[in-house]
Amino acid sequence: MIDLERVRAETPGCLDRVFLDSAGSSLPPAPVLEAVVGHLRREAEVGGYVAEEERADDLAGVREGLARLLGCAAEDVALLDGATRAWTQLFYAVPLAAGDRILLSRSEYASNAIAALQRARQHGARVEVVPADRSGELDLDALERTLDERVRIVSLVHVPTNGGLVNPVAEATELVHRSGGLVLLDACQSVGQLEVDVRSLGVDALAGTGRKWLRGPRGTGFLYVRPELARELEPPILDLHSATWTAGDRYELAGDATRFELWESDVAARIGLGAAVEYLLSPGVDEVASAVRARADLLRSLLREIPGVTVTDLGRRPSGIVSFAVDGVPAATVRDALAKRRVTVTVSGRSSTLLDMTDRGLEAVVRASPHYFVSDEQLEAAAVAVSELISI
Ligand SMILES: Cc1ncc(COP(=O)(O)O)c(C=O)c1O
Repeated sequence: MIDLERVRAETPGCLDRVFLDSAGSSLPPAPVLEAVVGHLRREAEVGGYVAEEERADDLAGVREGLARLLGCAAEDVALLDGATRAWTQLFYAVPLAAGDRILLSRSEYASNAIAALQRARQHGARVEVVPADRSGELDLDALERTLDERVRIVSLVHVPTNGGLVNPVAEATELVHRSGGLVLLDACQSVGQLEVDVRSLGVDALAGTGRKWLRGPRGTGFLYVRPELARELEPPILDLHSATWTAGDRYELAGDATRFELWESDVAARIGLGAAVEYLLSPGVDEVASAVRARADLLRSLLREIPGVTVTDLGRRPSGIVSFAVDGVPAATVRDALAKRRVTVTVSGRSSTLLDMTDRGLEAVVRASPHYFVSDEQLEAAAVAVSELISI
């Protein structure tokens, strides 16, 4: 059971404003803040190396916590500084040859698409897009039709940056594996708000971030890699942590997901990420997931009642990201006007999810992403604030 009063008391930022940007960068709870600040203080007292040594067990616990969250072993998790770094470390390690095919989802995130285009150009490979079905989810029939042995890697986006859509990852992964391709899952917007288990999804690798639904510090991210695959791939950038210099002309790669990491890191932020994962695991992901969905469903239904407001979420069962447009009012104007009313939302512009937004003729949407610390009363207040904008 979630003790909402306690959670809210431990999230001071949520008390005097309606904070609806956990899809951007959420509010870390007090234990996360204390973990980060406490470690920074300790570094100032004894130096970064001694401070790190003192927390060796807790640092090992970060990987263990993420492993419990994702349903894998601690050795299958690499700690990085964001979802993009995690995604690219894996993506650039997959060998490509001329004529190979890279498949993207229609709701692909810009950074992934840019990396795919760059690699395709470098290797003479092709980037192709799997269309969406009528609900907006990845079209499984179209995916099945297009798959062949030239498809090396398929990027699936679990939840896109611009709305509540949840893609059918397990079903898509099964199809991709039948034709011998790899699946790299962008779980940046799903881990922390949905149950994400790599065993049931079956993906080969997964990239996530700390600062969003996990409520961790900025500059934290993680990569899961299936252990057999991790041992096959050589990441694009190595150092003395991901590999060992064994002879004048040789080095040996780490035997597990560590090979995707680099030595230097923001140790305080990592400890904070560990605290955030424990904070989430304490009520349990299922509790948090159903609370987030209930908040988002309520907000969607309140927004739908306002004339002139269109909810733009796709998919059969949208998640915690609520996207909408207000007739005649640009998304940035809505965001700024809501900020004046102490409601925090963001704007998701066309270039972040170019293919999807272009297909739907959208220039920008307002994105509201309530985490479980937002109360129903606050959602009602946010909807009133939106309705007041209709006349501006
Ligand atoms: C779907 C999706 N993928 C990837 C990213 C990139 O995450 P990061 O900024 O942690 O690299 C984002 C960030 O908003 C995102 O929404």
